[in-house]
Amino acid sequence: MTDLTGKHILITGGGTGVGREIALQLAAAGAAVTVTGRRQAPLDEVSAQHSAIQAISADVTDPASMADLVREAAKRQGPIDITIANAGAADSKPFNRMTTEDWTQALMINLTGVFNSFQATLPAMERSGWGRLISIASTAGLKGYAYVSAYCAAKHGVIGLTKSLALELATKGITVNAVCPGFTETPMLEKSIENIMKKTGMDQAAAIKALQATNPMGRFIQPEEIARTVLWLCDDNSGSITGQAISVSGGEV
Ligand SMILES: NC(=O)c1ccc[n+]([C@@H]2O[C@H](COP(=O)([O-])OP(=O)(O)OC[C@H]3O[C@@H](n4cnc5c(N)ncnc54)[C@H](OP(=O)(O)O)[C@@H]3O)[C@@H](O)[C@H]2O)c1
Repeated sequence: MTDLTGKHILITGGGTGVGREIALQLAAAGAAVTVTGRRQAPLDEVSAQHSAIQAISADVTDPASMADLVREAAKRQGPIDITIANAGAADSKPFNRMTTEDWTQALMINLTGVFNSFQATLPAMERSGWGRLISIASTAGLKGYAYVSAYCAAKHGVIGLTKSLALELATKGITVNAVCPGFTETPMLEKSIENIMKKTGMDQAAAIKALQATNPMGRFIQPEEIARTVLWLCDDNSGSITGQAISVSGGEV
């Protein structure tokens, strides 16, 4: 069993969905956990579930906000050993209706947010000679999907960042990996289902069926399955796994 006692873990987007589940599983494995996101209320709700989970709000698109967060988190629970860059948003629009602002926003949250999270936390890992940088990317980092080209471009970028940074840190005791979920049952998926209903006139059951049909197992991935993969990557015995994009998608990719 993975024992994370003595490790301090930062999880961006830790108040909801996949990030929330990762926080609960890693705290149960003995870690001190800091969850962050823009809204305080969901962070407080997760923090109330386990005494080792601290809530500090921050915006991953703002490097100054991330620096403040990391300083405050370290003051409360010590330097960060593991970063889970999970915050993201998947807004959809046909390419020919996309504005420069839509494009920039998608890249800021889904790609620059990972860059900011890793930059803010890497120095402490370099000092201690041990670390884990993990992003929650997506199957959208490994294949294309129509109407989410900016999101796909950003997630492909996360995989590129992962592969390059893994090589830079290979001799420093720090691994860098991306976990790539297929459609996973979270608030983000609920939004996608509503969007399909609105745009196509499908009822909810038909929209769910259409999305589940993309998964060879014919079902949605559960946040627990993503959290298990993250837990495994955090283990000391996973120290030779680096630069990987691990698909958790029922065989979709
Ligand atoms: N659900 C899926 O089907 C699926 C599939 C593949 C990959 N993923 C990826 O999994 C990750 C988690 O998504 P989820 O499904 O769990 O959806 P979710 O519940 O909507 O979680 C997204 C989280 O990101 C946070 N966030 C968004 N913008 C932020 C910002 N600028 N700064 C800080 N936090 C921010 C949100 O909190 P605030 O709004 O409070 O900031 C929220 O807690 C995302 O990276 C997503 O792309 C999801």
